[in-house]
Amino acid sequence: MYLGVGQRRCITLVLSAFIAIVFCASYWQWSGGEHVRLIPSFHDADVAGAGKGGVLTKPGTAKELSPDEVVLAEYDEAPIREMCANSSWADSRNVVVNCESRVGGVGNVRQEFLVCVRQAIEIGASLIRPNIMLRSEGLIEYQNGPVQNMSYLFNLELFDARLRSACPYMPIYNDLAEVEHVGEIARVDRPRNLPEEQGVQLSFTEWARLNRQPEGKITVITMPRITGQTPVCDDPSPFVANFGRLVEFRTDTQRLASTILSALLTRFSPAFLPYYGLANNTFIGLHFRTEIDAVNVGYTSFEEQTAAYLSFVSATPIRAIYAASGNTTSLSLFAVEAAKLNPPATVVAKGDLLEGKDKQALEALTWDQQALVDYLVLTKAAQFAGVSDSSFSWGIAYARQVVSAEAGTCQSVGGLEKGVQFRDELSTVFGRPRDWHINKLWP
Ligand SMILES: *[C@@H]1O[C@H](CO)[C@@H](O)[C@H](O)[C@H]1NC(C)=O
Ligand SMILES: *[C@@H]1O[C@H](CO)[C@@H](O)[C@H](O)[C@H]1NC(C)=O
Ligand SMILES: *[C@@H]1O[C@H](CO)[C@@H](O)[C@H](O)[C@H]1NC(C)=O
Ligand SMILES: *[C@@H]1O[C@H](CO)[C@@H](O)[C@H](O)[C@H]1NC(C)=O
Repeated sequence: MYLGVGQRRCITLVLSAFIAIVFCASYWQWSGGEHVRLIPSFHDADVAGAGKGGVLTKPGTAKELSPDEVVLAEYDEAPIREMCANSSWADSRNVVVNCESRVGGVGNVRQEFLVCVRQAIEIGASLIRPNIMLRSEGLIEYQNGPVQNMSYLFNLELFDARLRSACPYMPIYNDLAEVEHVGEIARVDRPRNLPEEQGVQLSFTEWARLNRQPEGKITVITMPRITGQTPVCDDPSPFVANFGRLVEFRTDTQRLASTILSALLTRFSPAFLPYYGLANNTFIGLHFRTEIDAVNVGYTSFEEQTAAYLSFVSATPIRAIYAASGNTTSLSLFAVEAAKLNPPATVVAKGDLLEGKDKQALEALTWDQQALVDYLVLTKAAQFAGVSDSSFSWGIAYARQVVSAEAGTCQSVGGLEKGVQFRDELSTVFGRPRDWHINKLWP
C-alpha cells in the first residue's frame, strides 16, 4: 500500500499530536503531581485513634519551628574538629580534591559530597566545593545537565562556615578556575576501586602519595561517583553522627518542612513542638521508591512495599501517615489500601498540607528540591519505614539512628528476618540485602 504525500503528512501530524499529549500528560504527572488529591480525603473521623490516647483534640495552633529546630539533634563540631586536627595540612595548598558535577537525587548527592570532604580531610588536601549537575524531570537523563553550585539543594553558606570552623586549615575553592589562578595544575582521576599492591589494596592516602604530580604543580584529584562504598562506621561514632551535618538542606525547604510539621501536629495530635526531636505519637513516615527509574531497574515493587508498609502501620496505634514518593500515583493507590485497615489510616503528602504562598513556593521547586522537604518531614516521624534500594530511605533511617535510644549511631543489629535490612525502635528498612548501603552511608 502506498500513501500519498498528503496522507503521510496527516499521519505524521496525528502521531506527533499523540506523542505530545502523552508527553504533556506524563510531564504534568511528574512536575505538578502534587495537586493530585489523595484518597481518601481528610475527615476528622478518619483519624480517630491518631495521636496520644486515640483521641483527636481540636486543632490548636502549633508554632512553626525555626529551621534549626527542624533537624533532629544539635550539631556538635568537636568530633569533626578533632578529626581534622589529626591530619597533616602541610601540603594542603598543593593537593586538591575535586568533586564537580555530582548528579542524582539528594540521597546520593549528599553522600557523594560527604565522601569527597571525608577524603580531603584524610589526606589533608584543599577542596573544590562540590557542585551539582541537574538531572532531567524524567529522571532518565543523567548526563550533560546544567551545573549549579551546592545551594541548589543545600545551605552553601552554612557548609562553608561549618567546614572552615572545624577544619581551619583546609582551603576551599569555588571551582577549578580558582585553583588554576593559584598555580599550574596537573589532573589525576581517582579510580573507583583503589589498586592493589602486592595483594593489598592501597589506602587513599597511599594512592594519593603515589600519584603526586611533579614538584611545582598542584595535584588535582577528581573523585569518582561514590555513594556508599566507604565504611562509614570505621570512624568514631560521634564523628559519624555529626559529619553529615556539614551538608544541611536549603533553608527554604526547612521552612516548608516546618510548616508541614506544624500542619501535621495541628491536624493529628495535641499540638506539641518537636524541637530537635521526633514528633512522638503523631504520624508515621513512609517512603515509596516507585519512580520510573526504580521501576525500570527492577527495585522492590510497589506491591512489596505496600504489603510491608501495611503490616508496619498495623503494628502501631498511629493512624496518620505522611507518605512520600516522586510517583504520586503510588501514594493514591496506597491511601486506598491504608483506608481498609482497622481502624483505617489516613495518608497525606506534602502538597496536601500546604496552602497559599507556601504551596506556590513548593511547586516552584524542582522535583529533586521538593524531595528535600519530604526528607526533613520523614526524619521527624514517630515511626519511619523505607526501602533498602534507596539511599534516600537509608539516609533517613541512619539520621534517626543518631537519636535512637535503643541503637545509636553505628550500632545496627544483624540477624533480622528476611525482607528487613535495618531496624531500631524508630525506623525499619524493608527489602533485599543491599551491601553497598548498609553501614556505608552517613547519617
Ligand atoms: C588520631 O590519630 C591517632 C593516631 O593515628 C588515632 O589513634 C586517633 O584515633 C585519631 N583520632 C581520630 C578522631 O580519628
Ligand atoms: C550559588 O548559586 C546561586 C544561585 O545560582 C547564586 O546566587 C550564588 O551566588 C552562588 N554562590 C556561589 C558561592 O557561587
Ligand atoms: C518524645 O519522647 C521522648 C522519649 O519518651 C522524650 O524524651 C521527648 O521529650 C519526647 N518529645 C516530645 C517532643 O514530646
Ligand atoms: C507509579 O507507580 C505506580 C504504582 O506502583 C506504577 O503502576 C506506575 O507505573 C508508576 N508510574 C511511573 C511513571 O513510574
